[in-house]
Amino acid sequence: MKRRLVVGNWKMHGTARDLAEARELTRLPANANRQVVICPPATLLHRMSRIFEGTGLSTGGQDCHSGESGAHTGDISAAMLLDAGASFAIVGHSERRSDHGETSANVQSKAQAACKAGLAAIVCVGETEEERDRNIELEVVGRQLLESVPENANGDNLAVAYEPVWAIGTGRTPSIDDIEAVHEFARKQLVERFGASVGNSIRLLYGGSVKPNNAEAISNSRDVDGCLVGGASLNATSFAAIAKAFG
Ligand code: 13P
Repeated sequence: MKRRLVVGNWKMHGTARDLAEARELTRLPANANRQVVICPPATLLHRMSRIFEGTGLSTGGQDCHSGESGAHTGDISAAMLLDAGASFAIVGHSERRSDHGETSANVQSKAQAACKAGLAAIVCVGETEEERDRNIELEVVGRQLLESVPENANGDNLAVAYEPVWAIGTGRTPSIDDIEAVHEFARKQLVERFGASVGNSIRLLYGGSVKPNNAEAISNSRDVDGCLVGGASLNATSFAAIAKAFG
């Protein structure tokens, strides 16, 4: 059985006092069937990684640069995330795509850089509300997947997060049927591209308004191997409840 992956994305939230939530989360009983990760702001990454040492919990960055080093003011390389204790890097989040104009080609380079540095990349894809209204979500997700996932992807160095843009921070989620339809489509594309063994081993996460009250239903959906959680990951109690629903 594939190990479930439950990831919290703190986005631009959190200063030192919020590390209390991370400390609280260390009380979550370890479970071999699931991996629990928090991606805090870069300023907390090292401190949170220290708190998680020896607990089975992991940390990740929210983005990384595609280069190894250089004159890129304000950017962070994958090696720097690793150095700060991270095991994962989210790349291509829709907020990066919209706030910073990141293309799928940029996202692919970032994912490649993350894998090369020894991190697992979490590549985000998802349609906008307008695209969903036009019923072109599979086409949009298919294109983003094809262009964002690097050639050397496998189940250890990469996960994919399907995050419909209209479900992020809105309290709205697709129906379970709609989540399953996109995940099934993504799975098929990964299997066609990488073969059954690798394609089936890449974990598919759902993200967008995952809360303790819908986590169980999402967890039980076909082809959902985990979740990417924004708002509900800021609080240890709600994030722990979501993690428990996944394993
Ligand atoms: P919310 O869980 O707050 O909707 O955010 C989802 C998300 O963007 C996680 O990356």
